[in-house]
Amino acid sequence: MSAVLQKSAKAEKGALKGAIRIEDVVKIYDPEGAAVMAVDHCSLDIPAGEICMIVGPSGCGKTTLLNAIAGFHSISSGKIFLDDELLCGPEKPMAQPGSDRIVVFQNGALFPWKSNLDNVAFGPLMQGKLGKKEIYDKARSMMADAGLSGTEHNFPGEVSSGLRRRVEIVRALMNEPKVLLFDEPYRALDSLTKSVMHEALLEIYYKNKVTIFFITHDLEEAIFLGHRLVIMSSRPCKPKKIIDVDIPHPRDYSVLTSTRYRQLMDETIELVHEEAKKAFSAGEKEG
Ligand SMILES: Nc1ncnc2c1ncn2[C@@H]1O[C@H](COP(=O)(O)OP(=O)(O)OP(=O)(O)O)[C@@H](O)[C@H]1O
Ligand SMILES: [Mg+2]
Repeated sequence: MSAVLQKSAKAEKGALKGAIRIEDVVKIYDPEGAAVMAVDHCSLDIPAGEICMIVGPSGCGKTTLLNAIAGFHSISSGKIFLDDELLCGPEKPMAQPGSDRIVVFQNGALFPWKSNLDNVAFGPLMQGKLGKKEIYDKARSMMADAGLSGTEHNFPGEVSSGLRRRVEIVRALMNEPKVLLFDEPYRALDSLTKSVMHEALLEIYYKNKVTIFFITHDLEEAIFLGHRLVIMSSRPCKPKKIIDVDIPHPRDYSVLTSTRYRQLMDETIELVHEEAKKAFSAGEKEG
């Protein structure tokens, strides 16, 4: 566990859930045919409440790993645990998708015909475990915490994309997940908009310390947000290096001008570039 997280985990002992343990996972697509190995004996321990940033070249197997955790597809061997509960393994190659692990889709996942508030309340209403009033009270309060007061009765299309993305995260959090899974959510955004998204995500995270598994190609984003960076090898992926981001949370954008941030960029950029070059030349050979 990173030293930074260890400190905050101590303070909140017992409160945090959502530790992910990936043990020797292999994923081979189409084993009887083209046999594409996407994940190669990958092991990774993510403590509860950590923001774990997964960085690696295009096509190395990052999404494959996320999908295996989410229960969207099977693994070929190995095991994945969530808080010591086996999600998938030899007897059960595919995890059951569940509200304890939610993939935050950044585009198009909100119902455009429902208000933001109704979108946020939707999951728990469908589950039917809580009463309607309780659900709406909780939805309003979580929206307020995420800076969404005043947008409750707007439709998603009536608010800025930044606010819409907050609504998407709050909607996911309403289901009280242990883990949020993000797959390059801010890929298409310009750097200014991204910086606003990053601060908003951290703001929401500080109030809801779930585990975050976050895939990105963007090193700046990875260092700014993460407790740790997992730099993946080119395909088939497995961690090549794990780096503690020992910049204390809470963070804001002033971090980007700090000496430690620069040092971490220098330490990681070469590693990432090396793997990207390997992936590129492998692609050229295959193509
Ligand atoms: N359903 C599938 N069947 C066969 N091969 C697949 C399938 N899905 C992914 N692959 C292959 O597995 C490898 C890893 O894919 P994956 O999408 O996990 O990579 P990635 O690291 O997420 O890439 P990117 O950064 O481009 O999103 C790639 O070579 C991809 O072509
Ligand atoms: Mg991907």
